[in-house]
Amino acid sequence: MSTHVESAPKHFDLLIRGGTVIDGTRRPRFVADIGIVGDRIAAIGELAESTADAVVSAKGKIVAPGFIDSHTHDDQVLLSQPHMPFKISQGVTTVVTGNCGISIAPLRDSCPMPAPLNLLDDQDSPRFATFADYMAQLRQQPPSVNVAALVGHSTLRAMCMSSLDRAARPDEIRDMRGRLEEALEAGALGMSTGTFYPPAMHAPTEEIVEVGRPLSAVDALYVTHMRDEADRSLEALEESFFIGRELNVPVVISHHKLKFAQNFGKSGVTLARIAEAMKRQRVYLDCYPYNASSTMLHTDAARLHGKVLIASSDAYPECSGRDLDEVAAEWQVSKTEAARRLQPASAVYYNMDERDVQSILAFEDTMIGSDGIPTGDQPHPRLWGTFPRVLGRYSRELGLFSLETAVWKMTGLTASRFGLAHRGQLAAGCFADLVVFDAETIRDAATYDVPKQMAEGIETVVVNGVVTWRTGSHQGARNGRVISRSNTAHRYGLGDADTRPHGA
Ligand code: ZN
Ligand code: CU
Repeated sequence: MSTHVESAPKHFDLLIRGGTVIDGTRRPRFVADIGIVGDRIAAIGELAESTADAVVSAKGKIVAPGFIDSHTHDDQVLLSQPHMPFKISQGVTTVVTGNCGISIAPLRDSCPMPAPLNLLDDQDSPRFATFADYMAQLRQQPPSVNVAALVGHSTLRAMCMSSLDRAARPDEIRDMRGRLEEALEAGALGMSTGTFYPPAMHAPTEEIVEVGRPLSAVDALYVTHMRDEADRSLEALEESFFIGRELNVPVVISHHKLKFAQNFGKSGVTLARIAEAMKRQRVYLDCYPYNASSTMLHTDAARLHGKVLIASSDAYPECSGRDLDEVAAEWQVSKTEAARRLQPASAVYYNMDERDVQSILAFEDTMIGSDGIPTGDQPHPRLWGTFPRVLGRYSRELGLFSLETAVWKMTGLTASRFGLAHRGQLAAGCFADLVVFDAETIRDAATYDVPKQMAEGIETVVVNGVVTWRTGSHQGARNGRVISRSNTAHRYGLGDADTRPHGA
């Protein structure tokens, strides 16, 4: 425990008094005061003698680093709803955008937005021709949370290719590669792919390697919604590892899951394979704590297995929240025809085994990412509930892991994997992103039926030293920052899961 009391100032801007600190490193909790000056933690320890402009009493409550959402689709909503209530109300202080191959930049006004790119965008939202333009806009109009951004390969394809139903030609690969370079220079953390989805489904492995070349020089991340998360998930893992090795960069397996009954239980095999691969290359993964998935409404029968709930439909907004089967029966058409008529649309799919979800969550290296889709009236409940659900249901109620481990999976681990320096940990010198919550009462309230519900038990959320959320209400602050890629942080890699040490 680092106290730094001797050198600490006697007066702070903000003092969090008497809380039980879980510091994001998995170290056991301890009682301490936290003194904040400006945007940084100045001291942690016994600070009874100190004064402050503002004091938050945290007696009997947990004080943890602000949660980092490793997997989001918040690219556009950060600008259109900068207060980000669905994230800040959960204690989230940093989001990673641009996942699953889809990012809001770079895109021209004339670019088509085929699904799932349209999940990011309402039609009249601004486009950004370069990644630097997007980052500049975020800085000019800061949201309430910090942002670290990935650039999406499907977005690059939409920007650079005349049609998406084929592999990229050499000139298109060069064009995409140049734009990836631009994005990395502008501060992107890496590139994401979504070869599961139509806009990138026809991209062969070699295309991704060739487009991804610029990642190698700066050791940026390769983040992937794999080609398959069902019958061919092992082959998809091998492809992801191969790309990571070819480029010699870390691979993040996004929202690891096994879909459809015939694959239930297969997480034993995939996790063993991931653990094996981790011995020779950097492989990271994240997961959301639910056994239903959500994305665009598919129109092919193979992807409409089982119960499908319509989350949003531009053509028939009144159908959101309804069962696809029911709507198809009412219209007297097939499921696929109903899905076609509802487009553009998104859906919730009941397609996973709870035991797989728990094995993946409990796997040591798994980070927590919401994969929340912030559009439509009936979003998947993960948008509002992910982080409190892991703390309440999976840690407290089911005892899947300790609270210290749960916090680490959403703070220190994530910061170290994504190279977010001085975040994800409570220590003197770190940014003052923190959350005060009640370990006894914290729980998600969002359900599939009523998904837009604030979680319970989050008391105070501080972003870069500014109180942004207090007992159920937003304080209006928009103190989030753009976090650019830092070259060295995730090189602390291979098997070393600890948060990197803090310097200055
Ligand atoms: Zn995805
Ligand atoms: Cu996603």
